[in-house]
Amino acid sequence: LRVAVLFGGKSAEHDVSVMSARNVAQAIDQERYDVVLIGITRQGRWLLINGEFPQSVPEDGAQISFLPGGKGRTLVLPQSGSAYEIAPVDVLMPVLHGQFGEDGSVQGLAEVAGIAYVGCGIFGSAAAMDKHQAKCLLAQAGLPVARGVTINRQDSPDIEAISRDLGWPVFVKPVRQGSSVGVSKARTTEELRSAIDNALQYDSRVLIEEFIEAREFELGVLEGEDGTLRVSVPGEIAPAAAHGFYSYEAKYIDADGAALFVPAHIGESTATALQDMTKRAFIALGCEGMARIDFFLRADGQAFINEINTIPGFTDISMYPKIFAASDVPYPELIDRLIRHALK
Ligand code: DAL
Ligand code: MG
Repeated sequence: LRVAVLFGGKSAEHDVSVMSARNVAQAIDQERYDVVLIGITRQGRWLLINGEFPQSVPEDGAQISFLPGGKGRTLVLPQSGSAYEIAPVDVLMPVLHGQFGEDGSVQGLAEVAGIAYVGCGIFGSAAAMDKHQAKCLLAQAGLPVARGVTINRQDSPDIEAISRDLGWPVFVKPVRQGSSVGVSKARTTEELRSAIDNALQYDSRVLIEEFIEAREFELGVLEGEDGTLRVSVPGEIAPAAAHGFYSYEAKYIDADGAALFVPAHIGESTATALQDMTKRAFIALGCEGMARIDFFLRADGQAFINEINTIPGFTDISMYPKIFAASDVPYPELIDRLIRHALK
């Protein structure tokens, strides 16, 4: 079977995707699967990558396109017009984060082309990517979320009213972004205004959320071929105080930006409660295949769902593969199960 690993892409998380995909490609069992590497440039061109996994997506190369062909029969061809077949692809593995990859767009392309693909479908991907809609769906399912206000680019928000309602500090986030790109913590009216301007560079809508003083936990879901949902043990992330929160820098730039504890040091009943909410959140958003659900847990025991990632990071510092390794699903088996789920 031939697995095409998609990486890079047009989103602000291009570099994170390259880091994730390198690990995923390495973990694919080469005895069972042929790996085809497809790098997507920042401009959105799909290139066939020959040989070893590259340091970065090259600027140029054999551009490819998909010919619809039904499950397992889709051909990847150079777009130049030379009619030779490079590879029939049996399954697409999008290891893309953020827009144009994790948001349902690539999933839609695969659906239209009739190619099996790993992970969530169109709706679950789009719902989880949109922090506003995800919050609405979670709240409707009776799951706890932080209080927040969503504003559109054309709104003139009443900053005083927002701060009266949410208190200080607040978190300001582009509605559809990942890896904390464009996210900031604001402590004053002034900071809030510039945080909104900053977030608006990444999306036309911005979510302003109350700050929750809490520990941070992440749990994973892995769906089996038969539809059973396996929930991982919780992992804990403790961002270094200097970063203020689990920012892009704390994640990927500063090697000491955060400490990870896998499994998390929490009581069994708390872990079970988080696992139960993880499963309910996965279902509430219509997710499939995999997802990582991120939580805040306050000292009084109240948990809040912060967000859902349908293509969670697979980088060296990323939690999803670690929490499954600690849940008796080692890296190669995790990837194998994801591929098998796609092909079911
Ligand atoms: N968006 C990043 C990759 C994550 O959630 O892990
Ligand atoms: Mg994310």
